[in-house]
Amino acid sequence: MDNLIKQVSKEILRANKIVAMTGAGISVESGIPPFRGKGGLWEKFDPMEYAHIQAFISNPEKVWHVLLREMKAIIESSYPNAAHDGLARLEKLGKFITVITQNVDGLHQQAGNTDVVEFHGNFATYSCMDCHSERASNEIDLKEIPPRCPCGGIYRPDCVFFGETIPEDAMWRSQKAASECDLMLVIGTSALVQPASHIPLIAKRAGAIIIEINPEPTPLTETITDYSLMGKAAPTVKNLINVIEDALK
Ligand code: OAD
Repeated sequence: MDNLIKQVSKEILRANKIVAMTGAGISVESGIPPFRGKGGLWEKFDPMEYAHIQAFISNPEKVWHVLLREMKAIIESSYPNAAHDGLARLEKLGKFITVITQNVDGLHQQAGNTDVVEFHGNFATYSCMDCHSERASNEIDLKEIPPRCPCGGIYRPDCVFFGETIPEDAMWRSQKAASECDLMLVIGTSALVQPASHIPLIAKRAGAIIIEINPEPTPLTETITDYSLMGKAAPTVKNLINVIEDALK
């Protein structure tokens, strides 16, 4: 692993434009459960019953009670871990880095990255389903479930539910960043959900080097990945950035 880390650090030092494509796995060590695999949310809940927009529209009370209330609480009490910090350290070193995240937890911005594309929206703001007014997360009162806007409409988090399209701006920025980067770090994603799983393919086709960090293999590992660092995000990214910082001393 040490040798691989050294090779990858050299690739990163050579790269001019870097994209980090992240998924739920990068936030596991911040205490946020992933969706798939052991301990994943979709082991406990059927996503079609709780995370599809039609499920929310037909029974917002149930979706708020079972899923959204818990997710909001977990996200609000979580902090960036060494993997989020590592990507922010890379930016501080002067590297041009865009983070494309499927996560809704805001931890990349909290860690200090400034160019973050939230592919699946976020839980930082909530919108009224009727009048579309927006509120910050800490202004959403959960004494009443589902929480309601003064107009009487129900609040929803500004995340992408299954059955909804990716925000146009996020899609456009992601495709542009992927097609222009010369190196992509793919961290903590099962790469099973489209269209997010296409983003590394765009980078590969444009000639980028693909580096995957994940304790498990994914559909990308044997197909487009150039370097696979099989490990948890926090220690692996920390180790990698330490080597890069040492090389720059
Ligand atoms: P998944 O839950 O599908 O996959 C999590 C990935 O993280 C897996 O490949 C794990 O092996 C890996 N993993 C677990 N622990 C890790 C750790 N400590 N360090 C690094 N990797 C680790 O999450 P996503 O790929 O993000 O969509 O899921 C994509 C989308 O599916 C989500 O954005 C969400 C979900 O349904 C929507 O809600 C629209």
